[in-house]
Amino acid sequence: MKNRCLLLTTSLVFLAGTALGHAAPVTENWENNCTKCHGDDGKGQTKAGKKLQLKDYTDAKAQAEMKDEEMIKSITEGINDKAGKERMKAYKADLSADEIKDLVAYIRKFKA
Ligand code: HEC
Repeated sequence: MKNRCLLLTTSLVFLAGTALGHAAPVTENWENNCTKCHGDDGKGQTKAGKKLQLKDYTDAKAQAEMKDEEMIKSITEGINDKAGKERMKAYKADLSADEIKDLVAYIRKFKA
C-alpha cells in the first residue's frame, strides 16, 4: 500500500510538471523582456529606464500606488503616452496570462 501511494505521488508530480512545462520560469521572462528598462533589481536605473523615468519597484510608495489589475493590464496591453506614443509594448503576444501574473508577483517581491 505504501508503495502504491508513493507511485501515485510521483505520477502526480510528473503530471503537474508536464502541464506547467510550457511556461518559461518567471526569472527568465523578467530577464529576457523587462530588465532592459526596469533593471535586474526593479529600480529602473538602466539607461533606458532613466530616460523613461521609471518607478523604483523597491520603493514601498511606488508599490502601494500600483494595483495588481492595472499592472496586469499594462503588461498585457502596453502603455502609451498622452500623444499615443508607445512607452512600453504590449506583451500579450509574447507571454501567457499566467506568465504575466507571475511577473506581477515577481515585481511585488522587489519591495524592500
Ligand atoms: C521599453 C522599456 C520597457 C520595457 C522593456 C518594459 N517596461 Fe514596464 N514600463 C515602462 C514604462 C515607460 C512604464 C510607465 C512608467 C512607470 O510606471 O514607471 C512601465 C510601467 C510598468 C508597470 C507599471 C504599470 C502600472 O500599473 O503602474 C509594470 C507593472 C511594468 N511596467 C512591468 C513590466 C514587465 C513585467 C515587463 C517585461 C515583460 C516590462 N514592464 C518591460 C517601460 C518598459
